[in-house]
Amino acid sequence: MPVSSVPVINKKYNIAIFASGAGSNARRIIEYFHHHPFISIALVVCNKPGAGVINIAESHQVPVLMIEKEHFFRGDGYTDELRNFKIDVIVLAGFLWKVPSTLIQAYPGKILNIHPALLPSYGGKGLYGRFVHESVIAAGEKQSGISIHVVDEQYDHGDVLFQATVDVQASDNPDTLAEKIHKLEHEHYPRQIEKFVDMSTRG
Ligand code: GRF
Repeated sequence: MPVSSVPVINKKYNIAIFASGAGSNARRIIEYFHHHPFISIALVVCNKPGAGVINIAESHQVPVLMIEKEHFFRGDGYTDELRNFKIDVIVLAGFLWKVPSTLIQAYPGKILNIHPALLPSYGGKGLYGRFVHESVIAAGEKQSGISIHVVDEQYDHGDVLFQATVDVQASDNPDTLAEKIHKLEHEHYPRQIEKFVDMSTRG
């Protein structure tokens, strides 16, 4: 068969977004990958009944898997369900539970998180959402930002792949800083996810 007529098999990589909250990042990610040539948002995983992200997923026809603590932490971390959805990469977007070892081992180097500060500062257990911005302001920092990192077994600890900064003004409070940080997240996270899928699924 001449080379030009060999069929090209275009694999699509499936992402599961894990989220616990409002889901503004999830919305951006879902919209960015709509009709993407090699990435599909195949699933939203949520641990919090009533979270805004559930409506966002449903309105974009993305299936939602609601998860329970016991099964997540003492079972297989829902690995079987994720395999059934043929998930290749997991993206955390405001997911407040620690990812258990079973899941990290099932997806080695294939779980990405976004943290609303410049790691390694202002990360770790208890430092999430508003608490991060309160701490940054209380410490009188002149800059904050976002960190996109690979997830390992410790909170906010894996390799940082990308950071972007924003100035903290004297007039900022946790709400205004959160708004600036969200803007940065929406601007950068989808593109960084695209690069991560490309990198982590190669070879
Ligand atoms: C984001 O700031 C993210 O960095 C943090 O949780 C927040 C989630 O916001 N981990 P949203 O639910 O995507 O609006």
